[in-house]
Amino acid sequence: VPLEEMSLPLFFGWFLLPGIQDKVRCTSMDFLKTLDTLEAFKKHLPDFTVEAEKEVDLEQYFQANGALHCTTKFCDYGKAEGAKEYADKPAVKELYGSAFELSLSALFVTPRTVGARVSLSEDQLTLWPADAEKEAVPLVPAAATLPAGSRAHITLGCAEGVEPQQTGFDLLEILALQQEGQEGELVEEMELGSLAYYGKGRWLLSLREPVSAQACFSSLYG
Ligand code: A2P
Repeated sequence: VPLEEMSLPLFFGWFLLPGIQDKVRCTSMDFLKTLDTLEAFKKHLPDFTVEAEKEVDLEQYFQANGALHCTTKFCDYGKAEGAKEYADKPAVKELYGSAFELSLSALFVTPRTVGARVSLSEDQLTLWPADAEKEAVPLVPAAATLPAGSRAHITLGCAEGVEPQQTGFDLLEILALQQEGQEGELVEEMELGSLAYYGKGRWLLSLREPVSAQACFSSLYG
C-alpha cells in the first residue's frame, strides 16, 4: 500500500531509543524522589494538592505512560486540523525514519504533570508545526508570543485523570512567566541543576548538563 493511501497516524514525533529512555526515566525518578523530601516543597504543598495531606509521594502521584517521545504533530488519524498539511511537508517526508539528538534542558513538575523540556535545534525546528504554540492560546494566552518550539516536551507522567497533552500547556505556562521576567524563586542548587518555584505548585529544574537523547523521527498509529 503506498504511504499516500494509508490513513494518517495518531501522531508524529521523536521516539527516544530504549537505552536513553531508561536513563531519562531514572533521572526523572531521582528528581521526584528528592523533590518531595525538600522543605521548600513541603512548604508549598498546599499549592500542589488540594487535599489536606502532609506529604505526597510524587513517584506514586504520577503515572507513567508508554514509550518516551516528543510529539511534533498530533494528527488524530487525520482528524486534527493541519494533519494532512503536516504529513505533506517536505521536511517530514525527507526526515521520516532519521536519527536525531534531542537536548533535554529542564525537568518540570506541576500538580498535573511531570515532563522534560526539549530545546530544539534549527534543524529540528524544520519538523515543528508552525501552529503548535498558537493552538495552546485558549489555555495559555501568552503562548502567542513565545518562540516556535517552546511547547516541545517529553511527558514523563500525569496525575490521575490528566491527559498527556496537558504537559505542553504546563511547560508553556512556566515559559510565559519567565518571558514576563519572573525568574521563579530560586529554591535550591541540586546535583542535577537549579530548582526554581513559579507558584501554584509549579517547579522547574534547569539541568546543569542538558541530557542528550538519541531519538528517531517517526509516527505512531496506536
Ligand atoms: P504529549 O505529547 O504531551 O505527551 P493520547 O494517548 O492521549 O492519544 O496522546 C498521544 C500523544 O499525543 C501524547 O504524547 C499526547 O501528549 C499527544 N497529544 C494528545 N492530544 C494532543 C493534542 N490535542 N495536541 C497535541 N498533542 C496531543
